[in-house]
Amino acid sequence: MGYARFVRILETLGTVKKTKNTEAAPKAKEDALRALMIGDVVGKPGRMIVTRFLPEIRARYGIDFVVANAENAAGGSGITPEIHNALLRAGVDCITLGDHAFRAKSIFPILNAKAPRIIRPANFPSEAPGYGMIVLDAPGNDKRPSIKVAVFTMLGRIFIQQPVDNPLTTAEKLLARIPDVRVRLLDFHAEATSESQIMGRFLDGKVSAVFGTHTHVATADETILPGGTAYQTDVGMTGPFESIIGRRIENVVDNFRTGRPSNFDVADKDVRINGALVDIDPMSGKTIRMERFVFAEDGE
Ligand SMILES: [Fe+2]
Repeated sequence: MGYARFVRILETLGTVKKTKNTEAAPKAKEDALRALMIGDVVGKPGRMIVTRFLPEIRARYGIDFVVANAENAAGGSGITPEIHNALLRAGVDCITLGDHAFRAKSIFPILNAKAPRIIRPANFPSEAPGYGMIVLDAPGNDKRPSIKVAVFTMLGRIFIQQPVDNPLTTAEKLLARIPDVRVRLLDFHAEATSESQIMGRFLDGKVSAVFGTHTHVATADETILPGGTAYQTDVGMTGPFESIIGRRIENVVDNFRTGRPSNFDVADKDVRINGALVDIDPMSGKTIRMERFVFAEDGE
């Protein structure tokens, strides 16, 4: 029994790239909102796999709403107006950012624009460019009318340099502003797994999903918490997996071995999309189904 299980786990690991691009399960409920959270899009390989395949993925999986963390999309750090536009054109509904939000100053006017589709961490100082939360419309279909979807993002404070406000109390204040919006998605951009778990438990029953980002490594703890909040400590990276969190292996290893400065160039092989797929009941805002999402360019 134990042996068979062990063999199956090995098989799963060995064939992950070939078995993950499967057909999606039917929606948990006919009128559910199916949302995809795409984990940190890294550099050109990350944005190319999104722009090339997202239209097909949206159709194939019946996805109604897409959020993508793209704070590493410009050469591995920051985002430009061109990349912002390309991601929206490909079918991303809302772009979230993190600690590298302001790396490219050219994005400031877009962050400050009226009706943006891009947000920066809400616990940055209020004087920072842009907004920390937006409410968008997910279009209706023959099963349900259009739904308002709130998306917000915040930075964690453990092992993260920026001096940001307490993310728990920031969340309380933000949610108090949107009593009528039931579908609420949080991208919690944090380094420490414990801090993400604290956020998940704190917001259980208050938001539809808490998706962790920033570490670029997906965690195997996707779950629906008792109050109906989807939770995953980190949804992973969208970019080259033959890498150290998206960067060329040799350069990073050499830097750590010798202390010599090195360009942490973005790698380019084994490009995948990592994320999380959730079905949300539009009336209650609770998640009723969740799964990890992996899409590999060379998957079958
Ligand atoms: Fe980050």
